[in-house]
Amino acid sequence: MPSLSVFGAQWGDEGKGKIIDLLAREADVVVRYQGGANAGHTVVVAGVKYVMHLIPSGILHRDKLNVIGNGVALDPLALFAEIDELGSRGVVIDGSNLRLSSGAHVIFEHHRRIDLAAERWRGVGRIGTTGRGIGPCYADKAARTGLRIADLLEPERCRARLTAALAEKNAHLRDVHGEAPLDLDQQLSRYMALAERLAPFVGDTGAEVRAAYRAGKMVLFEGAQGAMLDLDHGTYPYVTSSSTGTNGIPSGAAFPARWIERVVGIAKAYCTRVGEGPFPTEDSGPEGDRIREQGREYGATTGRPRRCGWFDAPQMRYTLELSGADGWVMTNLDVLSGFPRIKVGVGYRLGAKRFAEWPASLASFEGLEVEYEELPGWNDDLTAVREYGDLPAAARAYVEWVEARVGVPIVMLSVGPQRDQIIPRRDAPLVHSSV
Ligand code: IMP
Repeated sequence: MPSLSVFGAQWGDEGKGKIIDLLAREADVVVRYQGGANAGHTVVVAGVKYVMHLIPSGILHRDKLNVIGNGVALDPLALFAEIDELGSRGVVIDGSNLRLSSGAHVIFEHHRRIDLAAERWRGVGRIGTTGRGIGPCYADKAARTGLRIADLLEPERCRARLTAALAEKNAHLRDVHGEAPLDLDQQLSRYMALAERLAPFVGDTGAEVRAAYRAGKMVLFEGAQGAMLDLDHGTYPYVTSSSTGTNGIPSGAAFPARWIERVVGIAKAYCTRVGEGPFPTEDSGPEGDRIREQGREYGATTGRPRRCGWFDAPQMRYTLELSGADGWVMTNLDVLSGFPRIKVGVGYRLGAKRFAEWPASLASFEGLEVEYEELPGWNDDLTAVREYGDLPAAARAYVEWVEARVGVPIVMLSVGPQRDQIIPRRDAPLVHSSV
């Protein structure tokens, strides 16, 4: 399996970090192709917790090449904070195991400031962004006023483009948001110093990844956020500003769509969402609170409590189909222990209208009601189970019922944050030694 796309199939935080870390054992190259330091991929190794925001999860394996593709919005300050933090725990990172695309757009201080100010400006219409400058950076990319890493590395070009950008951003900060402008010289010297530190990592990563693939190396594409936060296919405008599914790979990693051979979605046994926006199966009552407590559902990047609710089968069919998934991994099954009954969303109603599939064409999801089915729960602790046959019958019944509803095989189950808390589905059709 020389190329594999792994993406979040819900609203992010599906437990991708751990699964990617596991699959990365067999990969030679791990590539991030979209998003930025808004992501939070948590991996627990030997009881030690690592949270990666920007650096691909493969970094915890010594002999892998990790790549940040051109589709990523790269904050150099966040990158070096992460490199230093991982370095202090013995993870050595240099230009031989981490490569940055010269085409990745740079997040500047003004992007972060505008992200926060724009959220305040929106008031009740706020998106609930992570405040990392992601949206404003991608907006500049589309407006063709952004700076790529390549621009940062050429001092004269950097000076000219950053001067022009700041003139506009400072006017915006001052006149629209009533904020103090940023000092041009200070910003120039900060980012030019960062450019020097970035230089040894930078290259044409698209060419490097394609060459590795052609040489028979296994390439793993690590999606960040979730497919329901996709700029085009998610719950717009309550989305992030990138293409979060497999659809983001060809442009964000400069890798041909036809070379993507396997696609695996990651989803929890229930649903969560952080930030504002539609979440049809959200449970704002005591059962949702219980999922939050049992699942420790607090954001890895912002620490915000996550909104919690039930698995949504049509939503899952939608995102798995959009990315053409061969299989998916169900995570956090252990969190559902102790619920007398477990609900699963199977369709929707809006007034007299029924939707059997995800109603992607709706402008707003206001008033959308969910039709549920209920399955019996189980009380047993699942965290020590390693074989599918050792799961309680009710847990197996839940897994198989959901799998049949979704129509795509579950290749692996996760029952805790540790690397080994995995249950393979050995008879699943996706053949891979790790799944
Ligand atoms: P932004 O990506 O910071 O612009 O935030 C846009 C929306 O995406 C907000 O609802 C965020 O909470 C959400 N979001 C961004 N990154 C993640 C993530 O890694 N997990 C879950 N939600 C995220």
